[in-house]
Amino acid sequence: MPTISFVHPDGKSDRVETSDGESAMQVATRHGFDGILAECGGNAMCATCHVYVDENWIARLPAMAEDEDALLDGTAAARLPNSRLSCQIRITPDLDGLVLKLPERQV
Ligand code: FES
Repeated sequence: MPTISFVHPDGKSDRVETSDGESAMQVATRHGFDGILAECGGNAMCATCHVYVDENWIARLPAMAEDEDALLDGTAAARLPNSRLSCQIRITPDLDGLVLKLPERQV
């Protein structure tokens, strides 16, 4: 299974194993990371699963859908060019090593 890393706002990082078919949000919540709230449960309705994708990875993710793009305009932390919703990032084998940075706040 691919492993991905979450970098917390204090700079510490956790590299964790994923399970088949999980989203990055599901991986984070399964590990109890505070930086992801995921209030809507992954239905692309809340934007509390906001992450910053490491610059080396942003071009390797599938393009975002319109609803993700619209929701990212309402994130609590600043939207940056590498902002994505982690519930919309499906972990596939080619994302082994992915690095996601957690924002300072989600609400
Ligand atoms: S969990 Fe709500 S938008 Fe991702």
